[in-house]
Amino acid sequence: MRFLLACRSCGKQMPFAIKAGSCKCGGTLLVAYDLERIRRTLTKEKLKNLPATMWRYNELLPIENEESIISLGEGWTPLVPLNMTKEILPGGKIWVKREEQNPTGSFKSRGFSAALSIANEYGIRKVAVNSNGNAASALAAYAGYAGMEAYVFLPLDCPGLIVKECMDYGARTFLVDGLIHDAGRIVKEGEQEQGWYNVGTLKEPGRVEGKKTMGLEIAEQLQWKLPDVIIYPTGGGSGIIGMWNAFLQLKELGFVEGDLPRMVSVQEQGCQPLVDAVRNNAQFKPQCHHVYSSPTGMRVPDPPDGQLVVSVLLESGGTAVSVTGTEIQQAQKILGKQGISSSPEGAAALAGLFRLIERNFIRSTDEVVLFNTSHSLKYLPWDCIGLPIVKTYRHWVSVSSPSELSV
Ligand SMILES: Cc1ncc(COP(=O)(O)O)c(C=O)c1O
Repeated sequence: MRFLLACRSCGKQMPFAIKAGSCKCGGTLLVAYDLERIRRTLTKEKLKNLPATMWRYNELLPIENEESIISLGEGWTPLVPLNMTKEILPGGKIWVKREEQNPTGSFKSRGFSAALSIANEYGIRKVAVNSNGNAASALAAYAGYAGMEAYVFLPLDCPGLIVKECMDYGARTFLVDGLIHDAGRIVKEGEQEQGWYNVGTLKEPGRVEGKKTMGLEIAEQLQWKLPDVIIYPTGGGSGIIGMWNAFLQLKELGFVEGDLPRMVSVQEQGCQPLVDAVRNNAQFKPQCHHVYSSPTGMRVPDPPDGQLVVSVLLESGGTAVSVTGTEIQQAQKILGKQGISSSPEGAAALAGLFRLIERNFIRSTDEVVLFNTSHSLKYLPWDCIGLPIVKTYRHWVSVSSPSELSV
């Protein structure tokens, strides 16, 4: 087989399985490829003629049969130079990876295209996810397209338009009186009780692999010369893990040379466990109390493998930085004037860049890629979209009463 699973902690390898879970040692299992074999068939020349979607890299994705692929045309998003580079970093270069142009308005399209293609290959029909919003709407869209039943669990304060999107795509939509990890407990219970395939972060192998294509694309779009720094708004961290794997694989394939990018996570003040871990000699601890940041994809107090995310950041020579809500709003306006509709997460990446320049982490000649992971329009408040208030939603589940789980 072209791919298997390997433990990121102890290196143990095992056959590929869809419910990847963890290794016996507790480490996270990720997909590993027979790169020797892939090197014989995948070439830079060949890529020039492949479709402009993330599936151009299907040799580096864990799908056996192309007919299983569930695709809405995700990936190959524009990488555009920021006009303001001259003012911000005169000797360097700043790019924005416009992930809001994906079919579901966020980069989450990639992970769910991959995850549901794998699920499809294994005949799975009922899928569920806990999410801060964009992952849920992506699951809903891809499941709708694949004819699967989708169940999504979102925090109560999730932006209204995203909740509406989930319902419009046909997902059974639940609002949870808690944070994303509280919603995750419900999905976990439903694995047994309801027969759901859990597509939560790091619960299956596809989402990291789909996000890996962001790294593959940047390399190809920059003519196989990697940038110096990548600034990525981070929650669960699968984008950081996936992109780092992309760079390692490209290096092993001989597609890129030299140093790999310094990976930087940005979080909003009020929920910054990765930033705290980097400050605390790389010891990751979930942020159990006093979570007060706004409801965005970065608000993940207890990611499934925070330690792995921190180790990737540090292995790359990168870091983690937090920014305030006000800085995010200001950055959103700056990006807006550059013609870029940025989500709070995407704007946080620019706000993070300002911080890193101040701290001299960014060198004057650095080439930097900022990730605009979603579209600003998805974050309209409930009252702007004329929806009834939250509690009138059809489905309601409270973490404190999991018995209401049956649907
Ligand atoms: C728009 C947006 N940006 C960033 C993130 C964080 O991504 P990751 O889970 O890869 O850390 C999310 C996650 O929900 C998101 O929706």
